[in-house]
Amino acid sequence: MRTHYCAQINKEHIGQRVTVSGWVSSRRDHGGVIFIDLRDKDQVVQIVCDPADNAQAHKHAEEVRDQFVLIATGTIRARGEGLENPNLKTGQVEIVAENIVIENRSLPMPFELGDEKVNEEIRLKYRYLELRTQKSYDIFKLRSKASIAARNSLDLQGFLEVETPILTKSTPEGARDYLVPSRVHGGEFYALPQSPQLFKQLLMVSGFDRYFQIAKCFRDEDLRADRQPEFTQIDVEMSFCDQEDVMRVAEKLLGDIFRACGKEIPAKFDRMTYKEAMETYGSDKPDMRYEMPMVDVIDIFERCDNEIFSSIAKTPKKNRIKALRVPKGDMIFSKRQMKGFEDFVRKFGAQGLGYFQMKEDGLKGPLAKFFTDSDLEAIIDRCKLEVGDAVFFGAGDKKRVLDYMGRFRIYLAEEMKIIPQDRFAFLWVVDFPMFEVDEGKVKALHHPFTMPKVSDNGTLDYEEIEDIESIAYDIVLNGTELGGGSIRIHKEQIQSEIFRLLGIGTEEAKVKFGFLLDALKFGAPPHGGFAMGLDRMIMLLSGTESIRDVIAFPKTQRAQCLMTKAPSEVDEEQLKELSLRIRQSAVK
Ligand code: AMO
Repeated sequence: MRTHYCAQINKEHIGQRVTVSGWVSSRRDHGGVIFIDLRDKDQVVQIVCDPADNAQAHKHAEEVRDQFVLIATGTIRARGEGLENPNLKTGQVEIVAENIVIENRSLPMPFELGDEKVNEEIRLKYRYLELRTQKSYDIFKLRSKASIAARNSLDLQGFLEVETPILTKSTPEGARDYLVPSRVHGGEFYALPQSPQLFKQLLMVSGFDRYFQIAKCFRDEDLRADRQPEFTQIDVEMSFCDQEDVMRVAEKLLGDIFRACGKEIPAKFDRMTYKEAMETYGSDKPDMRYEMPMVDVIDIFERCDNEIFSSIAKTPKKNRIKALRVPKGDMIFSKRQMKGFEDFVRKFGAQGLGYFQMKEDGLKGPLAKFFTDSDLEAIIDRCKLEVGDAVFFGAGDKKRVLDYMGRFRIYLAEEMKIIPQDRFAFLWVVDFPMFEVDEGKVKALHHPFTMPKVSDNGTLDYEEIEDIESIAYDIVLNGTELGGGSIRIHKEQIQSEIFRLLGIGTEEAKVKFGFLLDALKFGAPPHGGFAMGLDRMIMLLSGTESIRDVIAFPKTQRAQCLMTKAPSEVDEEQLKELSLRIRQSAVK
């Protein structure tokens, strides 16, 4: 139904007869001559319907409306002097219509295609129309290129693509499961995989050596701009490897993917320990496109004349006093703005936010009177302050201070517009703690199959459980967690010890992951791997703000598909077959 895609048409075709097909993106009637912009998958070409050239084609063009489906035949000619459109790939030429077939009509669009200010509910209800835009096509073209490049890269690196089950058992990634009731086994449920974690480890026990999968994962968790209930991972596992081997595979993979998408990235990424990332940037996924590190000043504040600060400084293990230098901050921000920053950090639990201004004659500000001249000098020195800078202080409980000062760093960088938008700053964050303690409950920070760092004699030596480190690493890109992975436990004795520390009893472990524990007894090789969020990667590559833009048919923040209206009620008969009854209180 076409001789050319619109994108293929250019000056070289002048004089040729072509057939193009697609949708009418606009139609203009200029005193009898009708101009139609016809768009196919990714480009637009102008069709001119002049009754003087062809009366029949012009007659059909009169009926044409936006988004009608046309098959148009005509001859290509150069546009007249001054009528070229530099914004269009085909802007130097146009098609003089000979025949216009209206292949299908369209209702008026429920919203203007491409207008992102339109309410998202409407756009998602008619998602297939939103996808009929250049922006969407470009995103999905990029996504396709990235997936294919990932496959090729991993294939060349000796990985085998294996599919793992979707109807399965709960996997330990820490979110809620999506459950599927079994008809055959009334009262029993499958869980949709939160990741292929356990299966990929089993494939290592099988001796497959190197596995990958572009895997759909399902997690019932609170949604955010970079989270969907159903998302895709590039999932990788390999045997007889250490952390360095895994990192090399990931770096090569990312290099290949980004190159396929037209971006060159460094062959090796910088590394930072979890501890350093938290202490310096208040985040385990620092955005390294800009600096602004936090500096520890607790020892200087301990000597100050202010009871609040000096008492916080007395317990440096539990508390932190962190300084954040803002280059030229005193010149950029008014006093009122600086006060306003306090409101920002208070939202995240800060008691207040102290600051100094670096003037010609030294540090000034409400706090200055509490410090000796030499300590003020020490602050200038430690924070490397220059005239015109501002420096802010957060003081209090370690976890809270690191969190709000880390958020404040990002907030300031955004306010000051200092974040370069054209850079990809990759970072490995390594040596994650094995456990976190949340309201007294010990939890695995990654998952319970992550290898802890053990001493030379193979035991876990620690004073506090949170001090145990793991061989786990995250890939961070521009402040987003792009991926994560670890070396796994392949020996049963260490696995049992981890379960004991997590408070998972033998019986519970057997019920939940018995098959994996059994497999570890049958010659499990040393192994490890990682998974990267494909959706997040495409977000970053395409520079879009919402994960919904890079998923063809996404869910809303409330995990609904507005187009198909999923989730939805099912009829009584289906419920009965599945041995289910809906509690009346759950019915809306
Ligand atoms: P993890 O849970 O860190 O690791 O997930 C890996 C990557 O998947 C992406 N991701 C998501 N993307 C969109 N929406 C979500 N709800 C979502 N959740 C996670 C992130 C994340 O970095 N089995 C381990 C990997 C391993 O150890 O090999 C795992 O799933 O980009």
